[in-house]
Amino acid sequence: MEFSINSIAPEKATGDSLVLTVSGTTLPAAYSRLDASLAGGLGALLAAGELAAKAGSVATGLLAQGGRLLRIVVVQLGETPDLAALRQAATAAARALLAAKGASADVVAALPKGVPPDAFVAALAQALVFESYRFDDFKSSPDPRAALARVNFSTGKKADIPALEAGVARGRAIGEGMNLTRQLGNLPGNVCTPTFLANEAVKLGKAHKLKVQVLDTPELEALGMGSFLSVAKGSTEAPKLVVLEYKGGKKGAKPVVLVGKGITFDSGGISLKPGEGMDEMKYDMCGAATVLGTLQTAAQLALPLNIVGIIPTCENMPAGNANKPGDIVKSMAGLTIEVLNTDAEGRLILCDALTYAARFEPETVIDIATLTGACIIALGHVATGLYANDDALADELLASADGTGDKAWRLPLWDDYQEQLKSNFADMGNIGGRPAGSVTAACFLSRFTKDYRWAHLDIAGTAWKSGAAKGATGRPVPLLVDFLSSRAAQLGRKDKK
Ligand code: BES
Ligand code: MN
Ligand code: ZN
Repeated sequence: MEFSINSIAPEKATGDSLVLTVSGTTLPAAYSRLDASLAGGLGALLAAGELAAKAGSVATGLLAQGGRLLRIVVVQLGETPDLAALRQAATAAARALLAAKGASADVVAALPKGVPPDAFVAALAQALVFESYRFDDFKSSPDPRAALARVNFSTGKKADIPALEAGVARGRAIGEGMNLTRQLGNLPGNVCTPTFLANEAVKLGKAHKLKVQVLDTPELEALGMGSFLSVAKGSTEAPKLVVLEYKGGKKGAKPVVLVGKGITFDSGGISLKPGEGMDEMKYDMCGAATVLGTLQTAAQLALPLNIVGIIPTCENMPAGNANKPGDIVKSMAGLTIEVLNTDAEGRLILCDALTYAARFEPETVIDIATLTGACIIALGHVATGLYANDDALADELLASADGTGDKAWRLPLWDDYQEQLKSNFADMGNIGGRPAGSVTAACFLSRFTKDYRWAHLDIAGTAWKSGAAKGATGRPVPLLVDFLSSRAAQLGRKDKK
């Protein structure tokens, strides 16, 4: 989709569709000339009571203007819209536009006082990109794509143009990052293998000037990643450790390291999962896909930060040489682990990746993982589970979750839970029993993250949807991009001081 920005008046717009915003039920003054050009049709549309007072309500009409029919899409922002209302309105407007026939659209928002001019266009650009995504690569006769190809954002205030440009670029980059994450998640396990993921990382690196390294089994053995390798060995697919470096920050500035769980299929291994719904375990690499989507967005936005992505990726399969319950493996950190359940494999690959992360002398490490079914029991499909060994870091992430609507909720890492990981025969077991299963998984990881500020995002409930709307969500790319952008903005402020 092509986006442009100018200062054409709404009555002069030439697109097939025209998106307008209202806050309440009266016609904003900014649209009165437009209304005249439509012979009062716009006022009549509103007077007809088509539009509810709730943010995101939409009224559409085909109105005669000169010799043509113009599709009008009026979207309700609500009287005093907050960011959530703007997002709702943007999604509704994007859906209405994409459902319409025209190839081009203009957007002229009339925002109430206090709403920053770029907030709505950023939300709309993001929604347009997000709502345009389809996963139909494997359909012989896919549904036709939406006709919409060009969207022009217009403002009456020329001074606002730079802000709108930045907003549109931001919204587009976030939408595209989410779509990359969704695409990799949706691809089936027989296509999206560890080798495929590594190749995608290399491609991303080429497109955005990232340094990308792919470590293979001999290197992982040399590093002593016995825990990671123990999960991989039951599969005929080779494991990979992918390391991506984005260097947008000052030379020597400590990086934020993002670690993503990349199990391209989780059968459970010898502790085999039940058959029903097992297809969804192709989504067990959504943490890895989030790292790639976030890095793509960060690079597109040229964030002035150094960011490292680390992706341990392999399959978890049953086989004659697979991990068995009771096996004891040795992690890169030197700690031994009794594999009491081969289905608790995410922590086994993450612990070695987290140990590896230390070599980047990170400012902060955040891992993202579809780690536990227990997290879904705790928080459902609404909020990502957030854990951190640092309160300020947790607060930063929660602020980004609130601001973007990409919700997260902090859960405790109290030492009291650590006991559940006791093993009679090794330094720890890989499971902590049924109670607080998401917490004990985080406690397991915490034993490998003592040397740096660390947060863990359990996205088991939020990375994809089941049922009729089955598909990857692209979460938590918005949360992470906001976190990184806020960090970048803070740096900017410090530099000015
Ligand atoms: N990938 C799963 C977690 C998962 C399950 C995510 C369902 C989303 C939906 C993970 O590897 C796993 O199997 N965890 C086990 C841990 C248990 C054996 C301690 C779980 O949650 O059941
Ligand atoms: Mn598992
Ligand atoms: Zn898993």
